[in-house]
Amino acid sequence: MTDDRAATPDARAIVAISRGDLFGDPEARLGAIADVRQRRLVNAPSVDELAELAAGATAILGLAGDPVRNELLERLPGLRVVALASAGYDSVDVPAAARHGVIVTNAPGVLSEAVADTTFGLILGARRRYVEADRYVRAGRWDEAGLELMVGPDVHGATLGLLGYGAIARAVARRAQGFGMTVLFHDPYGTADALATGVTLDVLLARSDVLSIHVPLTPETRGCIGEAQLRAMKPDATLVNTSRGGVIDEPALVRALAEGWIGSAGLDVQVTEPNPDLDNPLLALPNAVVLPHIASASTSARLAMTDLAARNVEAVLAGRPAVTPVPGSPTGGRQ
Ligand code: DGY
Repeated sequence: MTDDRAATPDARAIVAISRGDLFGDPEARLGAIADVRQRRLVNAPSVDELAELAAGATAILGLAGDPVRNELLERLPGLRVVALASAGYDSVDVPAAARHGVIVTNAPGVLSEAVADTTFGLILGARRRYVEADRYVRAGRWDEAGLELMVGPDVHGATLGLLGYGAIARAVARRAQGFGMTVLFHDPYGTADALATGVTLDVLLARSDVLSIHVPLTPETRGCIGEAQLRAMKPDATLVNTSRGGVIDEPALVRALAEGWIGSAGLDVQVTEPNPDLDNPLLALPNAVVLPHIASASTSARLAMTDLAARNVEAVLAGRPAVTPVPGSPTGGRQ
């Protein structure tokens, strides 16, 4: 590489902020140590938009979905750190960033409790049909009160299966204790604790009343819940996904819900986001609860996510190791 990422420490760095709606006013905060350019839009930028915004920048403070790929990195020779205010970093090519000497950081941990809260909301909402029931009342259909109305399977005492056993899954497992649930997990990289029992994927699929997904989207996990896995689940099982839509084969899930291979689903994420398409087949299914990727949307989590990203930028600009580099990233970049 001929690029020069050894920006002179004395020069006032440029920080590019890729989204206009990050909590905590990072523009003002980082403005104390750098020249800040903030994009005002809230959607993910294209490579061209991000390259233009970050031209000459030392740091990008961004979000999941920002296309940090080799073609972008090649256009930003002065870049030293990409700090995401999100836990997920599947839109970032970490090996390419490492080759360019660019540190990549994310915001793990600070959103775990908020996402676990949403996970439980989806479990309850889908399994006990609360969202469907709300639509029923609002449609003016509550003209009789039979005992069959909106009956669903229990949450308390059920078996919860966690695919992936990182910080968010553990936070879900803790909540499950209060519901008297038996908790199983499958995670080739995770370690067992007193909250949950590790099992094979086959056992997890066969025994779970609720299967909740907590794996990152990687080549290994993409589409890992497909027709075979859905058919292996219990007919009244609930599938919950607060990770990334691409982990599930969506057309297979639509068939599973329509044809009764499983009972219900609670989804915070989809393959295509945002997705305003009213012809989206998931929306025609009464047994699917569909949220617009809001699992981490509590005020405190949002503030903490930006705070951690800003701390990573501050650390790298000050020549200190990044606070939360992602696996495979350099921590100090080229100094
Ligand atoms: C994350 O942090 O990755 C959440 O999905 C919110 O974007």
